[in-house]
Amino acid sequence: MSGFFKKLFSGSAPHVAHVNPWGAEFPVSSSQTLLEAALAQNIPFPHNCTVGTCGSCKCRLTEGKVSAITDFGYTLSREELAAGYILACQARLKSPITVKVETAGDNLPEPETYTGQITRQEPLTHDILALTVEIDRAMPYVAGQYASLNLPALAGRSYSFATAPERGGRRELTFYIRKVPGGAFTDKLFTGALQNTTFELTGPHGHFFLRGGEGPIICMAGGSGLAPLLSLLHDARKNRLRRRCVLLFGARTQADLYALDQIEEIKNTWQDEFTFLPVLSDEPADSGWTGRRGFFTGMLPEFIPAAQATATQAYMCGPPPMIDAAVTALTALGLPLEAIHYDKFTDSSHAAK
Ligand SMILES: Cc1cc2nc3c(=O)[nH]c(=O)nc-3n(C[C@H](O)[C@H](O)[C@H](O)COP(=O)(O)OP(=O)(O)OC[C@H]3O[C@@H](n4cnc5c(N)ncnc54)[C@H](O)[C@@H]3O)c2cc1C
Ligand code: FES
Repeated sequence: MSGFFKKLFSGSAPHVAHVNPWGAEFPVSSSQTLLEAALAQNIPFPHNCTVGTCGSCKCRLTEGKVSAITDFGYTLSREELAAGYILACQARLKSPITVKVETAGDNLPEPETYTGQITRQEPLTHDILALTVEIDRAMPYVAGQYASLNLPALAGRSYSFATAPERGGRRELTFYIRKVPGGAFTDKLFTGALQNTTFELTGPHGHFFLRGGEGPIICMAGGSGLAPLLSLLHDARKNRLRRRCVLLFGARTQADLYALDQIEEIKNTWQDEFTFLPVLSDEPADSGWTGRRGFFTGMLPEFIPAAQATATQAYMCGPPPMIDAAVTALTALGLPLEAIHYDKFTDSSHAAK
């Protein structure tokens, strides 16, 4: 049998991928992922973890079929799956395909590798701390992005910048990190054993940043997911942004709330209406808490009137179940998927599966 027929009948014939907005067209072999093949062609396809957890390689399949190495559904929402979104790092081609990637043009700095040292860690709550890392040279980043910390014997762990960027970059980076029970990195970090440890760090990564527009913005944070939103809001405030803003902060109890002074400062200097609402899910009934209780996803209709749904942009970060519930609620209210931006704080339990 000729090599051509062997390939055809063994099912290993490559399929062609068309990738927009670059208008690129290239073959993807049966042993390659879409991302691997695109990178081999020097296409600047956004990516970071390559194991299906960070969401950086999200793109929309507009023609053809792919199979998923690991389920796209942990990282993408049900609504995104229904709209044809896939993860290029987990996609193998079953036919010729066309995909569309959202790119940020030339506005995002290229990720580079830095050497960092943990110089300070301060508790914010009983299970969230502020980590300060000093790096060998200034890193430019856009508010909302994150870095990957590559500590010895651990695959990269992603953490969002908690402070607004500075012109010329920052040499001192701050992250807000939640202790994950059984977590290889955070368990060790919280013992203080990593103080002064030197390690490699890459960044900036990610496509979570404030998009242009004039309509209202609604920001939602769960736990340490407040970090990138504080970076984004401090930056917007410094740039005197004039857009109505609502910040919803979900926590279990009053003891889980933090950075309230920073939020107050943002609110007091914001150039338009700014509403802040902490929402507690497990606060004891007799604690005297007079604020809101439950989950903020159920409260979204209060903040997004029907007439403004298509003009509103949503920004959120936190645990995967919170993001999934919020995407469902926001799309039900009429927000287009393109106006919903998030980083899901996924961990290695998914990659392990
Ligand atoms: C884009 C992005 C930004 C992020 N930003 C932040 C941030 O700003 N702040 C923050 O706190 N977090 C953030 N995260 C999450 C962070 O990257 C880590 O995933 C988190 O800190 C846990 O790391 P860890 O090493 O402690 O836990 P891991 O070792 O990853 O373990 C996490 C959990 O999975 C379980 N697990 C591990 N291996 C297995 C296995 N084989 N089978 C079953 N279960 C397993 C562990 O017991 C533990 O409960 C972000 C994540 C992403 C993707
Ligand atoms: S690079 Fe594909 S999900 Fe992270």
